[in-house]
Amino acid sequence: MPAAAMPALIFCWWRGKDSNLRRQSRQIYSLFPLTAREPLQRNREFCLFSLEKSNNCRVGQDNRFRFHKPWSLEGKANLSEFQLRRRMSISLRFMSKMTHPILNSQALDTLFLHARSHNGWLDKPVEDALLQQAWALARMGPTSANCSPMRVVFIKSEAAKARLQPALIEGNRAKTLSAPVTAIFANDSRFHDLLPKLFPHADARSWFAGPDKEAIAATTAFRNGTLQAAYFMLAARALGLDCGPMSGFDNTLVDREFFPDGRIKSNFICNLGYGDPNRLFPRSPRLEFEEACRIV
Ligand SMILES: Cc1cc2nc3c(=O)[nH]c(=O)nc-3n(C[C@H](O)[C@H](O)[C@H](O)COP(=O)(O)O)c2cc1C
Repeated sequence: MPAAAMPALIFCWWRGKDSNLRRQSRQIYSLFPLTAREPLQRNREFCLFSLEKSNNCRVGQDNRFRFHKPWSLEGKANLSEFQLRRRMSISLRFMSKMTHPILNSQALDTLFLHARSHNGWLDKPVEDALLQQAWALARMGPTSANCSPMRVVFIKSEAAKARLQPALIEGNRAKTLSAPVTAIFANDSRFHDLLPKLFPHADARSWFAGPDKEAIAATTAFRNGTLQAAYFMLAARALGLDCGPMSGFDNTLVDREFFPDGRIKSNFICNLGYGDPNRLFPRSPRLEFEEACRIV
C-alpha cells in the first residue's frame, strides 16, 4: 500500500514531555487488540499519528500536538504497517478521533444525552464490519475474572428474521422485522471453560465448574453478560448506531431456535441501525441523584 496515497495511522515512538499527550497515547494504545500490542510491550510510550506526506503529524483533531520525529514501528518490532493495520480490529479512522482523555459534550450526547431507544428504522444498512468494531470495543469492558460470558447472534437475513419472528410479542414485531440488524444478547452457561485462556494467572475455572457451583456460575453469567450487553449498546452508539433493546419476546422459543444445544441462554434482544427520529416517544423522566443515590 503506498504510504503517501492515503492517510494511515501507525505507531511511533514518542519521547515528548507533555503528560496529556502521554495519557492520550496510552488511551489509544489500549484500544488495540493484544496481538498488535505484544511486540510493543518492551517499549515506553506510543502515539498514533496520521501518516502524511510531510513529517508533521497530528494526533486526532487537536492542533496543539505536532510531531516532528515520527519513528515508524516498522523494523523496530518486526511489524509492517500493513500487518499492523490488518491486526487492528477497530477502525483506524475511529481511533484517530479517540484522543481526548475526557469525553467532550458531543460524545456524551452521542452516548447518553441525545441517545434514545429507537422504535423505527431508516432504510440504511449496517455493515458487518461495524458490528465487528462494536464488538472490539465492547469486549474491553470489565467482567468478573474477565469471564466474558456474553455471546451474540446478529440477525440480518430474511431467513433468520423469519425464525425470530414467532418469538416476538406483538408490540415488538414490526419494528424488529424492519430493523437492519437484531442482536440476540445471550450468555454462555459454560463460560468457565474459557477461563484458562481469559484468566490464565489463576485456576478460575474451578470457581465455577461442577454441580455444586451451578448457582454461582449462573449468577455470574447473567450479571456479566448483562453488563457486556450494555457495553455493546454504548459501543454501538459510539460508532454512530442506534439501539432498540427489548425483553418482550419468548426466551424459550429463541433458545430452541438459535441455541439448540442448551448451553447458551438468551438474555435480551436489541435492534441496531439508524433510528428514525419521527418514531420516537417523548423521553421519559429519570430519577434525580437524591432519589436513587446516597453518599455515605
Ligand atoms: C433490557 C431492556 C428491555 C426492554 N424491553 C423493551 C420491549 O420489550 N419493548 C419496547 O418497546 N421497549 C423495550 N425497552 C426499551 C425501554 O422502554 C427504553 O429503553 C426506556 O423507556 C428508555 O427509553 P429512552 O432510552 O428512549 O430514554 C427495553 C429496554 C431494555 C434496556
